[in-house]
Amino acid sequence: MTVPHNGKLFIETVGCQMNMLDSELVVGALRKEGYSLTDDVQEADTVLFNTCSVREHAEHKIYSALGRLKYSKLSRPNQVIGVLGCMAQKDQELIFQRAPHVDMVVGTGQLAEVPRLIGAAREHRERSLAISLDRKEGTRAEVSDSFQSYDPLREPEMRPSPYQAFVRIMIGCDKFCTYCVVPMTRGPEQSRPPKDIRREVQILADQGVKEVTLLGQTVNSYKVTQDGKLYRLSDLLEYIHDVDGILRLKFVTNFPKDMTDDLLQAVRDLPKCAQYLHVPAQSGCNDVLKRMKRGYTIEDYREMFGRIRNTLPNAAVSSDFIVGFCGETEEAHQKSLDLIRECRFKNSFIFKYSPRPGTKANDLLVDDIPEDVKKRRNNEMLTLQNQISAEDNAAFIGRRVEVLVEGLSKSEVKRGDASTDAGPVQLTGRTTCDRIVVFNGNPRLAGSLTTISVEDCTPTTLIGSIVTHQVQHGSSPLLPILV
Ligand code: SAH
Ligand code: SF4
Ligand code: F3S
Repeated sequence: MTVPHNGKLFIETVGCQMNMLDSELVVGALRKEGYSLTDDVQEADTVLFNTCSVREHAEHKIYSALGRLKYSKLSRPNQVIGVLGCMAQKDQELIFQRAPHVDMVVGTGQLAEVPRLIGAAREHRERSLAISLDRKEGTRAEVSDSFQSYDPLREPEMRPSPYQAFVRIMIGCDKFCTYCVVPMTRGPEQSRPPKDIRREVQILADQGVKEVTLLGQTVNSYKVTQDGKLYRLSDLLEYIHDVDGILRLKFVTNFPKDMTDDLLQAVRDLPKCAQYLHVPAQSGCNDVLKRMKRGYTIEDYREMFGRIRNTLPNAAVSSDFIVGFCGETEEAHQKSLDLIRECRFKNSFIFKYSPRPGTKANDLLVDDIPEDVKKRRNNEMLTLQNQISAEDNAAFIGRRVEVLVEGLSKSEVKRGDASTDAGPVQLTGRTTCDRIVVFNGNPRLAGSLTTISVEDCTPTTLIGSIVTHQVQHGSSPLLPILV
């Protein structure tokens, strides 16, 4: 007997791109079974949270949302509430204890089972816990096997954007930075075979995708042997580069120590590769990097950065920083600011250190930087980074850039009346160096490459207009199109 339900699915996703992709795929699988999305949790018989454990705040958000659903089943007895993803793998049974109305807890390695588990939960009203082994619960092979990469066939209606798509090339992480939960929540590092990745990129291209972003926690550690040949990320990029229809290839996130010359040369030589590298430094101070167990010194990072500049002079580099990590002195903080000044990152994601249960830093180091100091350091770093981003963006004013048009800008989406044929609307796109550009144009341009003349900027955005024709006046040369 199947228990009736209204087919409405609510899903909230927090966390990184990996989670966005997972949610897209889970929603795709459920759509096939007749579910449709709603953004009103009140009207959904199926409520899913795809969760993140990287900082306490992300977990808090989900536990609060779960708290608000405590009595929800009184009016919807057939409702199923599921917690998916990293927090499911990390907290396991604890989720049922903290939120007894949750029906299913499904880890990152069991997402393929979500449709079946929802059905079972509704039918038998029994809780289910589907998770992978903890890292120490078996041999490496056993633990790896218990984390199944979830990569079903792609379908266009699943994607948030018709022109851009994520493709997972690996799961897990083996770096074990002392502050980080990801090696636990995503399991051992495992790379997918190039053939499978190429097939997926081909399917996406056939569906109209123009830009593919390859995903991995340490994407440049990718390594697979196929037909007797070793494929690293540089080889993989070459292997998928000729897929027709794809205009741009990106990849995130890079680990500094694995940023080898072959990869930089591939990005230089393969025209579809975006001139953009996200290579988090985390700190500018060797003592801190050592306590983080990042496996490189700041001299190593500088050396790597120099190689990027030499091989890819026009590439933008962005970073992540953690402020207020255990034992971070004022001097150490200054060194991080110095690194930002020196490298002039396109942007930096800055996080206040959040101790995570189960990590080495939480067990062995003291979270000794007071919250107000973390906050101040965070603000100082943000102010400096914004100043640099603004200065570097300002250098684009008066130049032309090639942009892959993504669609309506955020402000147009908010206004919500842009689908009418009322004339040009504000569009958004990105340069190959990942700078956001807004300009007026016809929404039909979405998915195409267009040249924009930059006229103004903010620290995060270039503002310009479409170059409609290029007339050469006398002998004055055309402005070069910059990347
Ligand atoms: N795999 C990527 C990033 C994964 S998590 C990498 O190695 O770069 C994304 C970012 O969250 C990290 O780069 C780090 O800056 C931040 N982060 C991870 N754990 C954290 C913690 N416990 N507290 C604060 N920030 C954290
Ligand atoms: Fe976490 Fe470090 Fe792995 Fe990145 S490399 S996911 S920060 S353990
Ligand atoms: Fe969060 Fe998991 Fe990503 S912990 S950052 S959602 S890998």
